[in-house]
Amino acid sequence: MNTLTSVAELRQAIALARSAGKRIGFVPTMGNLHAGHISLIKTALQRADYIVASIFVNPLQFGPQEDLDNYPRTLSADQQQLQEAGCDLLFTPTVAEMYPQGQQQQTLVSVPQVSEGLCGASRPGHFVGVATIVCKLFNMVQPDVAVFGQKDFQQLAVIRSMVRDLNIPVQIVGAPTVRAADGLALSSRNGYLSAEQRAIAPVVYQCLQSIAEALRAGAKDYEQLRQQAQEVLVGAGLRPDYLEIREALSLKPANEDSYTQDLVILVAAFLGSTRLIDNLLVEAA
Ligand code: PAJ
Repeated sequence: MNTLTSVAELRQAIALARSAGKRIGFVPTMGNLHAGHISLIKTALQRADYIVASIFVNPLQFGPQEDLDNYPRTLSADQQQLQEAGCDLLFTPTVAEMYPQGQQQQTLVSVPQVSEGLCGASRPGHFVGVATIVCKLFNMVQPDVAVFGQKDFQQLAVIRSMVRDLNIPVQIVGAPTVRAADGLALSSRNGYLSAEQRAIAPVVYQCLQSIAEALRAGAKDYEQLRQQAQEVLVGAGLRPDYLEIREALSLKPANEDSYTQDLVILVAAFLGSTRLIDNLLVEAA
């Protein structure tokens, strides 16, 4: 596997692969890779034959009080995992390479409707940062297919909307959330948890499962389900940021007519200073 840091070299390598008739698959990441990221590479390999991954901790999507400086950077372990998974090319640009005009570049990509609420409410500007960097990366790599995790459900919705609205010629694939044996969704931020917090963290997924079970059994009192689950989280020592039941396709809040559609339960909660997010899709009966 080749590791490249400049856009020019990246374009050259990809042009070569394309001229050899390869279909290009792309998996953007911020590094500190775990089995969740690697599952995206495997999914990409099923749909393309030249796989490009990127590792870039994008300052534009971090708020001023967030963990940009402390975000874990583990390049050589990441390279090894990517190589073993069958990745062909890794792109690891510097901030100056990605934002030569400085971070306050003129052009930003905003996807207002799906960015509203949920993570968008507590992380102002976050999805503009995500959409802008993913748009730039798409223009650099020009992949045929790009794979994103359903773990970041709202992010996936933002990217799907951006690709549709801007006619970006790439197929977007959502891949299922990879979890630890106790149900906790794998995340680079899990490394911030103490042993005690790590033992509590699976309650987040347990809450999602109990709401999903109630919905499948026909419960329609979304507000009550929400409140009960929030109380369970608080009781376990978490500080819920949001817990919502929404329509899976539009991300609109579920209402009394929504039970005929696929629903998604989305949660974000702080455990100490670590913000955990998760979601669970409940398909219509
Ligand atoms: P990052 O958090 O590194 O995640 C990279 C990709 O891995 C995303 O598509 C995310 O949804 C997926 N992922 C993370 N944990 C997962 C899990 N447990 N199971 C399955 N997939 C998982 O998301 C970002 O980076 C950035 O916002 C990015 C899209 C790279 C733009 O900067």
